[in-house]
Amino acid sequence: MNLLSGKVAIVTGAARGIGEAVALKFAQEGAHVAFTYVSDGSRDKANALVEKITAMGVKAKAYQSNAADFNACETFVNDVIAEFGQVDICVNNAGISKDNLLLRMSVEQWNEVIQVNLNSVFNMTKQVIKPMMKAKSGSIINMSSVIGEMGNAGQASYAASKAGVIGFTKSVAKELGSRNIRCNAVAPGFVETDMTSYLQDGNSADKYKSLIPLGRFASAEDIANVCLFLASDMGSYVTGQTISACGGMNI
Ligand code: NAI
Repeated sequence: MNLLSGKVAIVTGAARGIGEAVALKFAQEGAHVAFTYVSDGSRDKANALVEKITAMGVKAKAYQSNAADFNACETFVNDVIAEFGQVDICVNNAGISKDNLLLRMSVEQWNEVIQVNLNSVFNMTKQVIKPMMKAKSGSIINMSSVIGEMGNAGQASYAASKAGVIGFTKSVAKELGSRNIRCNAVAPGFVETDMTSYLQDGNSADKYKSLIPLGRFASAEDIANVCLFLASDMGSYVTGQTISACGGMNI
């Protein structure tokens, strides 16, 4: 199948984890991929991903760009348009967690999580809707979390940021539906990535798996498949939705 043939996709924070899986999945389906990474330490991984994707016969480029920085997002999207000519799909994937009980959570920890997880989605969406409005089409996919729906002790900032993403997504869907721009969120449960590495061993893994009807954590590819559905014409009548991909953990 070539569900995204000729499309240009942006993915933020794609040097590893879910973002990397999304970038690969989209490329397999024929999309050209422009993605960001933020730290110098991710450069080798980002370059390796570019090689992997270009070997699939599509274009790829890695940009060192901080999704939490409004001006950096503007520069990034302008550079992508100069290089790739258009933006059809944007996956706002970059995210962090700085977990702490509210009593101990510092203002800095709170602000950083909101800045990276929520403000980044505003920053990027503001930029990509311009070329999408011109093209009269687009698909924006925002990475939320089951924690944004359910809340979790020790994750007040993370939950608030991810719930914020859901409200933002619905509003953008209402504002831009008439322009044929769809905006949806994906709410993964526990995914086997660096972000959850501390949960993946022994007793704590068993404890968390017992809360999940499917009895396992998601792979990054499980989540990339949902993004593919939303990015492609398979999801052409879906907008303003949050697709839970949490193994049934929220029921
Ligand atoms: P990860 O930690 O493996 O990857 C996150 C990526 O985002 C990293 O490459 C990181 O460098 C990048 N990033 C962080 N801050 C950035 C910034 N300011 N600008 C650009 N890139 C930045 O995490 P994972 O698991 O792949 O998470 C991806 C998204 O999925 C995040 O938004 C996360 O909150 C969300 N998510 C993850 C879940 C999980 O269980 N792993 C569950 C639910 C949601």
